[in-house]
Amino acid sequence: MRQVNHRRSLMLGMLTSAVALAATLAWSGALAQGQGSTTAAPDNQTDLETVRRAVHVCAACHGEGGRSTVAVYPRLAGQQALYTVAQLRDFRAQKRAETDTQAYMWGVSALLDDATIEGLADYYAQQTPAPGKPVKPGDKALVEAGRKIFAFGLPARARACADCHGDNAEGAAGFPRLAGQHADYVFRQLKVFGTRLRPHGVIMKSEAANMTTAEMKAVAAYVATR
Ligand code: HEC
Ligand code: HEC
Repeated sequence: MRQVNHRRSLMLGMLTSAVALAATLAWSGALAQGQGSTTAAPDNQTDLETVRRAVHVCAACHGEGGRSTVAVYPRLAGQQALYTVAQLRDFRAQKRAETDTQAYMWGVSALLDDATIEGLADYYAQQTPAPGKPVKPGDKALVEAGRKIFAFGLPARARACADCHGDNAEGAAGFPRLAGQHADYVFRQLKVFGTRLRPHGVIMKSEAANMTTAEMKAVAAYVATR
């Protein structure tokens, strides 16, 4: 699935857009039904039902249980709930503003209330993470360079990622899980922290500021294998 050729990835892209469109329509339906029930006192049953419907929409892009197989869509399975809540709120407030975020997540999150956001974050935190990507023989040196950065940091330039993201990149509370995340997505975020598009990534701005592109690629390749 990951080593798709160009033609196949083009087709996948088209397919994904179609699925996303269908999902958006289904989502409007879910919203309309949800609105009908807001007059009733909220109870756990309705909350769970709303989360269940929402998860169905998320799965169109983020995959079953959040185990996305397409690098454009970050994996959510096993992600720290506190972190996911913060991101969904930032999307809803249009504070996190990368191009793909605007295109995909602003619309989706606009419809989520706080209870649903918390329910979604709990749901994904409980999902079994997808396994890390096997190391390709040609990537051994790259992944090893990334491991060193992750475990020890870069002298006078970046702290060890493990200090905040955990020894196994599993994350904790507001520090996101990076283990098994798509390398392309991780790399993109490291670049984005150097812009104004993730204003709540203040801690990461200083961590990423003095890393070279090659170092970012290496550490991204490493966490993807965890
Ligand atoms: C149409 C496709 C699409 C749908 C549907 C969708 N997402 Fe996303 N989501 C994306 C993309 C693309 C990104 C990455 C944006 C970027 O790279 O800037 C993303 C990013 C995220 C992130 C940030 C992950 C991280 O590691 O920081 C979270 C959390 C998230 N989505 C949750 C959800 C939830 C919950 C739903 C369902 C309510 C959902 N998404 C529905 C496409 C989608
Ligand atoms: C001092 C603590 C700290 C250190 C050290 C640190 N991070 Fe982070 N990192 C964070 C926090 C906090 C966030 C959440 C930022 C946000 O909310 O936008 C984050 C977010 C990220 C994200 C975005 C994840 C996503 O799903 O979008 C990536 C990628 C990342 N860090 C990689 C790294 C790498 C690689 C290193 C080591 C070079 C590192 N971090 C070192 C605290 C840290």
